[in-house]
Formats: sequence, structure tokens, C-alpha cells
Amino acid sequence: MTPLKPTRIAALKTNEAFGEHIRTLGIDLNFEPQISTGTASALAQGFQFNNRRIGNRWAVHPMEGWDGTTTGGITEPMLRRWQRFGQSGAKLIWGGEAMAVRPEGRANPNQLILNQQNEAGIANLREALVQTHQERYGRTDDLVIGFQLTHSGRFCRPHERKRGEPRVAFRHPLLDAKFNVTSDTQILTDDELKRLTDDYVAAAKIAAGCGADFVDIKHCHGYLLHELLAAHTRPGPYGGPLENRTRLLRDIVAGIRATVPRLEIGVRLSAFDTVPFKPDPTRAEPGKLGPGMPEDFTQCLPYRYAFGVNPQNPAEYDLAETVEFLRLLEKLGIQLVNLTAGSPYYNPHIQRPAIYPPSDGYQPPEDPLVGVARQINVVSHLKAQFPGLILVGTGYSYLQEYLPQVAEYYVRHHHVDVVGIGRAVLSYPEMLADATSQGRLETRYVCRTFSDCTTAPRNGLRSGCYPLDDYYKTFSDAPQLKLAKSGGVTKNA
Ligand SMILES: Cc1cc2nc3c(=O)[nH]c(=O)nc-3n(C[C@H](O)[C@H](O)[C@H](O)COP(=O)(O)O)c2cc1C
Repeated sequence: MTPLKPTRIAALKTNEAFGEHIRTLGIDLNFEPQISTGTASALAQGFQFNNRRIGNRWAVHPMEGWDGTTTGGITEPMLRRWQRFGQSGAKLIWGGEAMAVRPEGRANPNQLILNQQNEAGIANLREALVQTHQERYGRTDDLVIGFQLTHSGRFCRPHERKRGEPRVAFRHPLLDAKFNVTSDTQILTDDELKRLTDDYVAAAKIAAGCGADFVDIKHCHGYLLHELLAAHTRPGPYGGPLENRTRLLRDIVAGIRATVPRLEIGVRLSAFDTVPFKPDPTRAEPGKLGPGMPEDFTQCLPYRYAFGVNPQNPAEYDLAETVEFLRLLEKLGIQLVNLTAGSPYYNPHIQRPAIYPPSDGYQPPEDPLVGVARQINVVSHLKAQFPGLILVGTGYSYLQEYLPQVAEYYVRHHHVDVVGIGRAVLSYPEMLADATSQGRLETRYVCRTFSDCTTAPRNGLRSGCYPLDDYYKTFSDAPQLKLAKSGGVTKNA
């Protein structure tokens, strides 16, 4: 069987062609016939969040750049990225980027650390975003900004970009080998998890000091708190029943409420998952990665190692516990929820649908539009059950020219409250501002999912949109990225 050749979105020149493509794929994906502007645009409508107003219906997802200082401080490319987040016109800035709550919890040696030493710098980042937004849009009273708090767990690389120092919630039959987990001593002890509560609370306090409106207690993409949700096999107070698997979240929330009561709390959640994927070497074309195939999980059934999957067939998702988790968030008074899926490290096609794979990935095992529709439909299904939550949707960048029309449809019909944009913001920050004000896009800046923003950090380089953003075309890491893509440096940094 030859690998799949997905149709490029840019080749679908009309609504009819896009609609026909959707029908051929047999997926459920809807879009408005045109881009609406001004007051006719559902995306441009503000809404109330507690005693604040959020001025429109699009958000910037957290997007890190692997470009902080080695002490977790800010740098010039980072400052520029945050200014561009402000320039986007989005009135909800979800997270900015992942910020570690303690130095060993970093995913790379250049991740921000939310501690006292970095407080003034991170406050400046936020301020730069606010100022840019004010200059471009004339007001910021309806702009809400959160910081994303994280411990990278299985994916910790705090000291060297190429050396994993994983700390895990439990031993995993498929992921341990991939991420160099070889001993039970790498499992975080109950005491260590308990102490982590204080780190989250201390980081939240610093976030408030920096001017953040909320903190996101990150539960996605395979990082520690997401992995804890899957800790069925872990004994003790943090494993087994969902009540135990959410203990750390509940303790963190109680700690933040006691220490910084005016700070709002949100959660970014991988709402579903699937098993790890790998490239199929038997179907690789010359010079290319093979198409993605699931790792053999037949020896691991029932599958007790993921959150939001069917334990009898983990290639299928199951939202029963996701619903329970959202109920818990409601009970905890957490209204802001950003839904994503899977992990960029072990099933990237689920998490960030792309036509061109990152260097540690595989060729798409499905048309990327199938992955987009999967995320959109899961959010829509959950929104119907949780009308009181503010749900942010993910996975829209692959829609390219059709992003505004699809986003408009799902917001207009109340299937999602806010559409979040990740990669598309790196190449074209004002994409939805242009769409909702002028009814058209500058197509030359539209993200084509080349995945250089992921391939660069996988090869020890800083992230950015190298193909479309002039700043990165001439960036000092650009020649090394070119070399890495031609196979010249070690992969999997
Ligand atoms: C370069 C890059 C950096 C990212 N950084 C983060 C991050 O810090 N925190 C996070 O939760 N997700 C992060 N993500 C995931 C995005 O927020 C988003 O979920 C993903 O790109 C899919 O959305 P999109 O289709 O709009 O790009 C990152 C993705 C990329 C490509």
C-alpha cells in the first residue's frame, strides 16, 4: 500500500471544492459560506467572564519558542513573539507559553521558569503584549491574559536539549523505552508530588504579581498532570480511581485560592488520546519518513495507560472520564477550559494535524482534516453537555484559508465558545483580525503546516515560522535547521 497523499487545502479554490473534499473524506465538518465582518461576525462578539469582559471569540494558544535564557528568563525573540500575540487582536491569551513551576520540570533548558528571579522579565513580556495590543486596537480592558503553569514530567530536559531527565507518574509499557525511563526511581514519589503543590501555588503567586488574569494548570500533551490523569496503575493517594488521579489538581486549586484569591484558574486538557504512533519503515518512500502506524498495544490490554481512551481498544477515544473531569472543574468553580488532544511527542497527527511531518514524526496516517474534525466534534459534543463552561477549541490551523469560515460556523452555532489558534498565529498574527474586519486574508502568510516550528526544537534549535516569517528566514538558527532537515545533525533533540 502506498502512503496517503492528502489533498492540499490551498488546492481547494472554492467552497464547493472544499465541501466536496469533506464529503469524500466522510467527515462531519461545517463552514459558513463566507467570512462575516464587523457586527455580523460571531467571532467578533464579546462575552462576559465573571466580572470581566472578553472582547471577542478567538484566543492565542500557548506557543513556546525554546528560546528563553538558561535560567528561565526572557529574550528578544520571545518578546517579539508575545508582541505578535498582542498584535493578533485575540482578546483571550491562553497561557502565552508553557512556564515551568520548578527548574527540573522544564521541557528544555530554555523554557521560562516562573520564579522570583524571573518575575520582572516575565511581567515585561506581558506588558509588551498589552502595549502592542493597545497601540493596534485602542483598548485592553477586554483583554484577558493567562500564564500556563507546567511540570514536564516524562518530557523533562532541564539541562541539555538532547538529554531527557524524565520524572513520571507511572511506568508505561510503550512510552518508557521511547523516553528513556528505565528505573522505578524515575517515578515521582507521593512526597515529591505533594511538594509540587507548593511550587504551583508559588508560581501562581508570581503570575499574579506579573499581572496575569488567570493561570492554566496544564493537563495536556502527556506532561505530568496529564499523565497523572492516566495513573490507573499507580498505588497510593495519586493513583487508581479518578478521585486520586485528580488529587494534585484539587490541592493546587485549594492552595491558589487560599494564597491569591483574586487570580482566576483555567485548565488546558487533552480531552482524549490514542496510543503512541511511529513511522512504518516498510512503507517509507525514499528520503521520507514512513506513514504513521500505531505501536503494537495488543500485549497491554486492557489499556490502563492513557486518559480518554477505550481501555479495550485504546485506538478509540472514550469521553466518559473526560466528562467526569469537566464536572469536577465545574465543582471547583473553574470555568475556563481549553480542550486539546493527544501529545506532540507520541501521536502528533492527533494533536496538531499537519500535511508535512516534524522530523521526529511520520507521514500523515489520515488526511489532516480528519484530525481537525475529530477535535472540533469532540469539543462540540462536550459543549452540549457543559453549556456553563467557557470552552476553547484547538486544531484549527490546518484549515488555512477556510479557518475563518469554519471557526465562524462553530462559534455561531454555540458548538464552541472561543476558537484557539496556535501555528497560524506564528506566521500570520492578524489572521482573524483581518478576516473579521476586511472579510479576506493575506494568503501568503497563511500557515501551511510545514512543521519547521516543531522540527527546529526537535533538533536543538529555537522555534519559529522559518518558511513564512522574515524574522526567522534570516535567523541565526536557520542554516542549522536547513542542515538538520537534510539529515546533517542528530534528530530527536
Ligand atoms: C512551536 C509550538 C509550540 C507550542 N507550545 C505549546 C505550549 O507551550 N503549551 C501548550 O499547551 N501547547 C503548545 N503547543 C501546542 C499548541 O498550543 C496547539 O495546541 C497546537 O499547535 C494545535 O493548534 P493549531 O492547529 O492552531 O496549531 C505548541 C505548538 C507548537 C507548534
